[in-house]
Amino acid sequence: MNDHPTPACEAARAAYRARYGGAEAPVPAHWNDALALLLGHRSVRAYLPEPLPGGTLEAIVTAAQSAATSSNLQTWSVVAVEDAERRARIAAWAGNQRFIVDAPLLLVFVADLARAAGIAARRGQAAEALDYLEPALVATIDAALAAQNAVVAAEALGLGTVYVGAVRNHVTEVARELNLPPRAWPVFGLAVGKPDPARPAAVKPRLAPHVVLHRETYDAGAEAAAIADYDTRMHAFQASQGLPREDWTAKVAARFASPASLHGRDRLREALAGLGLALK
Ligand SMILES: Cc1cc2nc3c(=O)[nH]c(=O)nc-3n(C[C@H](O)[C@H](O)[C@H](O)COP(=O)(O)O)c2cc1C
Repeated sequence: MNDHPTPACEAARAAYRARYGGAEAPVPAHWNDALALLLGHRSVRAYLPEPLPGGTLEAIVTAAQSAATSSNLQTWSVVAVEDAERRARIAAWAGNQRFIVDAPLLLVFVADLARAAGIAARRGQAAEALDYLEPALVATIDAALAAQNAVVAAEALGLGTVYVGAVRNHVTEVARELNLPPRAWPVFGLAVGKPDPARPAAVKPRLAPHVVLHRETYDAGAEAAAIADYDTRMHAFQASQGLPREDWTAKVAARFASPASLHGRDRLREALAGLGLALK
């Protein structure tokens, strides 16, 4: 943006500084309300117990359905769980994460090949390709794209969200709880609710853009120094939020150290096989 410090320029610079957690943030070239919403994203883990206003769920789902979907196959579904006892059961399978109980709504995004299987069966056609990894990936990608549109829609309505990948810790139990048909599995949950203003969430800094943006070909040459710098910026973020100091690099390494660090998801392939996915 130009050097004249209009309010929009100031807002853009502040948003970039927050996103990168440091003064070396790039200068924004463009700015508008949509970019402000996207750059202001933060996961919310503290909710008011209020129900959502009427029509909110439907607005969020229509936004989710507006996402691109591979070949317009629409191989995803979403289960809206409002029942408190069902949310409590899912929370117990998903690492006992308190916000699943506190938020009034849990959306479980489902990679759904059951609908395609049903269509093929009703047409009397074979559906052998459904047993391959590719359609499972397509369905998972579709579910993720739809969910991210749901996140943006919820945030545009002044709500907060947080994904719950931990539903995959016990994917079989969650699938059974939701009465999912064969060939449909929960990819992640999404808690949705009104953020508790007494416990606000902050924008979490990201890696410097040049670490993730490669021009023409992949080049990780300057990566190590930039990642070390990110550890430092995350320490500052953690201190500002009263969080324990932890190297981001240590967290990444620990996450992939052994199958045990996958919290049950090391058995995901077998679990998905049990849900009707051959993943050939
Ligand atoms: C697929 C997926 C699964 C996630 N699962 C969880 C979860 O189970 N619990 C949780 O507290 N946060 C979860 N998160 C939120 C991430 O921790 C969060 O997005 C990340 O720390 C970046 O923070 P931010 O969203 O505030 O920018 C998940 C995010 C994604 C994309």
